Amino acid sequence: MAQQKALVLPEKGGNIKVTDIPIPKPGKNEILVKVHSTALNPADWKIQKPSYSHFIKSYPVIFGIDSAGIVEEIGDGVTKFQKGDKVFHQGDFFNSKSATFQQYTIVLADFIPSNLSFDQAATIPLCITSAAVGLYLKDGAGLQAPWEGGEGKYKDQSIVIFGGSSSVGQYAMQLAKLSGFSTIIATSSIRNADLVKSFGATHVVDRNADVVAEVKKILSDSPKIVWDAVSLEDTQIQAIQILASDGTLLLVGPPHESIKAVQGDRKVYRVYGSPFVHRELGISMYSKLTEFFESGKLKPSPVEVLPNGLAGILPGLQRLEDNKVSAVKLIARPQE
Ligand SMILES: NC(=O)c1ccc[n+]([C@@H]2O[C@H](COP(=O)([O-])OP(=O)(O)OC[C@H]3O[C@@H](n4cnc5c(N)ncnc54)[C@H](OP(=O)(O)O)[C@@H]3O)[C@@H](O)[C@H]2O)c1
Repeated sequence: MAQQKALVLPEKGGNIKVTDIPIPKPGKNEILVKVHSTALNPADWKIQKPSYSHFIKSYPVIFGIDSAGIVEEIGDGVTKFQKGDKVFHQGDFFNSKSATFQQYTIVLADFIPSNLSFDQAATIPLCITSAAVGLYLKDGAGLQAPWEGGEGKYKDQSIVIFGGSSSVGQYAMQLAKLSGFSTIIATSSIRNADLVKSFGATHVVDRNADVVAEVKKILSDSPKIVWDAVSLEDTQIQAIQILASDGTLLLVGPPHESIKAVQGDRKVYRVYGSPFVHRELGISMYSKLTEFFESGKLKPSPVEVLPNGLAGILPGLQRLEDNKVSAVKLIARPQE
């Protein structure tokens, strides 16, 4: 059986390392992709910690959620793609053959926008899906998605986004702009203010300032939606103080105990950014993503390419864990 290299965790508590494993075969309606670029996400280090390891059902396991590459082989029934097509897609580390920290992966994919590199395309899947699930899923803010006729629909409305320079925040701001929000207030370090504005923020509030007071200076009415793409205890408490009493708070992590007592009638929704779990939204969004990126309505996050292929992922994950990544998506190239 043909072999490939993958970053494998062999057993619970074991040492993750680059290992030779068989290249999987695509089944019915599946494609096999040669991964040229994969993005690193905080989930890739968190899932290795004891507090999250109950999510892992079996070992050995491979992580990695974002990738861009070239179709290597198609399974029975596939008509959309052929060998050689350039595609980007979200991986699934609950199913290692579809994880992306390996040289070949089995995926559900879409065509890479012609104006994007593999590295840029790999920044998109998880973070845009997370941003979209929050804004457009009925259980979240329930807005009409831009790819379903809602483009420009929410004029004269305001939204506050905590973590404007984060990967999720960058896509949340862009989607808010595409949805028509006329006031988009984002928090970040002040050195990232120009970048945050370039992704759609109309106002940037220094994350170290009194965020609640600064937002109240800008808005006369409380916003109906606050997207907390940081979701630490302090950002959640600030978000609740800013949000309208019948508004929706979107979180990337679990709601903190301390907001439960003060949330009142506000809806608090924890996003799960998976196009596999939220299948209808995933299919609808992916049907328009290529077009939106090619037309410039959406743009990818800035990237930093890590050296040393799959082995370079481990020091990259350590930087994410140490909060040493700012306003950039770390990318690895598994074929190196
Ligand atoms: N639930 C899901 O499906 C899902 C999906 C994706 C991510 N997540 C989670 O979402 C979080 C963000 O992920 P990511 O990939 O977007 O992270 P990231 O890009 O690596 O986050 C780094 C950014 O966070 C910003 N930041 C940190 N603390 C902040 C604060 N107090 N206020 C404002 N900004 C702050 C930093 O801003 P400055 O450098 O400007 O200070 C930095 O640019 C992680 O916890 C991740 O696990 C969840």
